[in-house]
Amino acid sequence: MEKRRILTGDRPTGKLHLGHYVGSLQNRVKLQHEYECFFILADLHTLTTKPEKSSVEEIATHTRDLVLDYIACGIDPDKSVIYLQSAVHEVYEMNLFFEMMVTVPRLQRIPSLKDMAKSADLQEMPFGLLGYPILQAADILMPRAHLVPVGKDNESHVELTREIARRFNYLYGDVFNIPDVLIGNVGSLVGTDGNTKMSKSLNNAIYLSDSARIVEKKVSGMYTDPNRVRADIPGTVEGNPVFIYHDVFNSDKGEVEDLKERYRTGRVGDVEVKQKLTRALNGFLDPIRDKREDIASRKGYVDEVIYEGTMKAREEARMTLQAMKKAMGISGIWNRISRKAEQARKSRS
Ligand code: TRP
Repeated sequence: MEKRRILTGDRPTGKLHLGHYVGSLQNRVKLQHEYECFFILADLHTLTTKPEKSSVEEIATHTRDLVLDYIACGIDPDKSVIYLQSAVHEVYEMNLFFEMMVTVPRLQRIPSLKDMAKSADLQEMPFGLLGYPILQAADILMPRAHLVPVGKDNESHVELTREIARRFNYLYGDVFNIPDVLIGNVGSLVGTDGNTKMSKSLNNAIYLSDSARIVEKKVSGMYTDPNRVRADIPGTVEGNPVFIYHDVFNSDKGEVEDLKERYRTGRVGDVEVKQKLTRALNGFLDPIRDKREDIASRKGYVDEVIYEGTMKAREEARMTLQAMKKAMGISGIWNRISRKAEQARKSRS
């Protein structure tokens, strides 16, 4: 039996951090065995808020970094298709057809778009940003994905994708299956500053590519229990970022329990808790670093991965677009006209 398909991915805007790992990468690595996976490097989507030439010039570097992070974390490019969105032109065409199936008020009700406009300091909504989820629908429907693992903030985009797929099928006949959403907990890992969300813009992230020294520095500056002014007074473990990280990343559960117990009873200093966390985090990150270094040293490897994946994606896209145009009757218009023109030219000669 054919494997079911997944499509998900990221905008290439920078390196990935522990929040991305916990919220999505970990999950993708698991799912790639069960599903045929397509991972999109959604560079066109970055244009919705950053169309400037200077931003475009950064895309290639960010894209390579993203793929390095993917592979270092265990995404296997021999199993999964990793591809560059802007190099799959059929998606632009699909996007146009889907634009005809969505109303403006429907898009205006999507909260994530307003949030994106606001955080990009845009006074008014660009047309392309309003169309962000339509382009995303084209991404998802291109390989006719069955499942779309995304963060909560993208849930409404997949919902719109489902509506578009249904609408298309209703208007023109069954071309698309209706993809399901799988919500991961991206953004659910606290930042080093205790802010509810680890994020690049909040400057509270530990990156998968951070060195052991940087990790140590970031951990030693972490926010803990603010009421605990001395090591010999009882502290709070619940909601304390240092212990949240211990729970997630320290595989020595005995050590974690011991630290918690001593923290609650005022028998351990922050320094020791943090030193042990540094050790645990670096233990977790070391194999990722090794893998990253290995692939970064193989000249052109990352580019080859993107190239191969994009070629596969193009082939998929070509077939889907062809099926769409055929169902719509769009390709038939030109086919008939060009055939008649050809005949006319022949009969005259
Ligand atoms: N919108 C995603 C983000 O928040 C990126 C993306 C673009 C995407 N196309 C996609 C995710 C298709 C899943 C499926 O960065």
